[in-house]
Amino acid sequence: MYARKAGTVWEVLAPAKLNLYLDVLGRRPDGFHELETLMAPVRLYDRLQWRAAEAGDDSEFQLDVQAATRMPQHVIPADRRNLVWKAAELLAREAGIAPHGAVTLSKRIPAQAGLGGGSSDAAAALVLLSAAWGFDYPAARLQRLAAELGSDVPFFLAGSTAICRGRGEIVVPVSGIPRLEVVIAVPSEGVATSAAFAALDAPLVAERPAREGDSALASLIARLRRGARASAGRRMFNSLQRVAELLCPAIRRIGTSFASVGCCAHILTGSGSAYFGLMHSARQARRVAALLSSLNLGTIYATATCR
Ligand code: C5P
Repeated sequence: MYARKAGTVWEVLAPAKLNLYLDVLGRRPDGFHELETLMAPVRLYDRLQWRAAEAGDDSEFQLDVQAATRMPQHVIPADRRNLVWKAAELLAREAGIAPHGAVTLSKRIPAQAGLGGGSSDAAAALVLLSAAWGFDYPAARLQRLAAELGSDVPFFLAGSTAICRGRGEIVVPVSGIPRLEVVIAVPSEGVATSAAFAALDAPLVAERPAREGDSALASLIARLRRGARASAGRRMFNSLQRVAELLCPAIRRIGTSFASVGCCAHILTGSGSAYFGLMHSARQARRVAALLSSLNLGTIYATATCR
């Protein structure tokens, strides 16, 4: 994730993510859940732009949200509840200044979909406003701010495929995984992350449970690295899928449709409601996306991981 400047406007692209593997190890005493997940950024982007306030405009900070997909206003607020606004306030407080200028957030990533749109926007806001306001903080300082904003925000700030542990904020980048072609299906009904975790009824664990070695995840990563998609697909997994299917019955219908198209694997991402298939090729992705689009399952994207 990086900021570029065109004229007087700073801009950052905020990718979505997919969970290729998501194991919920248990509920923690702090109410969060201990996770082990493999996340990859995908080529579906929100865009954040920053402009200086116009002369004579004394309002401190402005946020304008332009939604490209169908998104209820209550899900994407354009005020202090938006993570972009929270990121602006947090960064400004850290620097001892007042947040200023106008941010335009152009949304393409569906909300309540497990695609990480809000978290990615928050990470992008930290990068955008650091550049626009002229800060040069070390990565570790921004990572600390990112973790305060949400469990997935540090992953987006790190900017590559990564294993994430803890509540998601402990990020270990994973290199060498080739681009993966995927088809994503997003039903019109979303799933709230907190509702999915609450419905899981996971057993209480200590904050850092003793690990038996990450054999399942390590074996998935090894297969992805050598391009063995079919056997990698058999190791993809999401602990939240069962509860998400109960909260949003459309997910099961999408899964049945993916099962009939012959992809390498198909699972839920995050807490849903988006669901994706790992494809053998870009050609298959385009063909499957066209087929699924004709079935009225929701919004369908043929896309690929970033790296
Ligand atoms: O950290 P974030 O604000 O994205 O989390 C949203 C909600 O998802 C939390 O309030 C919590 O209910 C749930 N969650 C969890 N365990 C995690 C991450 C999120 O229980 N590791």
